[in-house]
Amino acid sequence: PRVVAVIPAAGVGSRMQADRPKQYLTLNGKTILEHTIDALLAHPQIDDVVVAISPGDAYFDSHKLRDKPIRVVEGGKERADSVLNGIMMLSENDWALVHDAARPCVEDTDITSLIALMGNKDVAGGILATPVRDTMKRVASSGNVISHTEDRDGLWHALTPQFFPAKLLKAALLDGLARGANITDEASAMELAGYKVALVNASPANIKITHPADLPLAEFYLKQKFS
Ligand code: CTP
Ligand code: MG
Repeated sequence: PRVVAVIPAAGVGSRMQADRPKQYLTLNGKTILEHTIDALLAHPQIDDVVVAISPGDAYFDSHKLRDKPIRVVEGGKERADSVLNGIMMLSENDWALVHDAARPCVEDTDITSLIALMGNKDVAGGILATPVRDTMKRVASSGNVISHTEDRDGLWHALTPQFFPAKLLKAALLDGLARGANITDEASAMELAGYKVALVNASPANIKITHPADLPLAEFYLKQKFS
């Protein structure tokens, strides 16, 4: 089957507080979005790349990203809506490899390990993940006093890419959204639909650029990747 990367890139980047959506900030001479697109285009097992951008987004054209061998769709209100718009471009037997625009530091070898799940009949698909490092505290939603300490054993950070058969993922996302579930990643929709989802232990360098302090860190990881 074909592997098609779907990149949600239609967010506004409110936590970054920059003058533009964070995917258009420049790291080592290239925008974050271009780093991410290039990383996926360069992977030998990825056949096609679909990018979801915001309808009013002028940066995408001004950075000449349309010249790349990609397909472009309109993003939606939430991340899951953007992903769904991208998945709609895939064919019946394609596998979707969904990857945040805000994660330019993803490593080739981790993508390869994830795609290898295609041959694993015990799971519907899987995601990159990394073990939680800090001690985790539960706090009542109303306050700032600790209610208890969570057992960190078996807790993971969900990263992207997340990799599933397009047909199953599309149905799971539509169903999850229709049920009003909080679908913050593809795996959560698949879990809700009752599928088994594998974790692939991946590099913690695959950060989601979120706050200003993440920018120099990502520049460092990108330099390491290409050195
Ligand atoms: N995204 C999207 N469509 C949306 C919201 C988010 O395609 N409606 C994308 C973002 O562009 C990003 C990825 O989903 O690549 C992960 O989202 P996040 O890191 O939360 O980015 P933003 O939503 O842009 O940032 P913030 O939450 O700080 O506003
Ligand atoms: Mg967001």
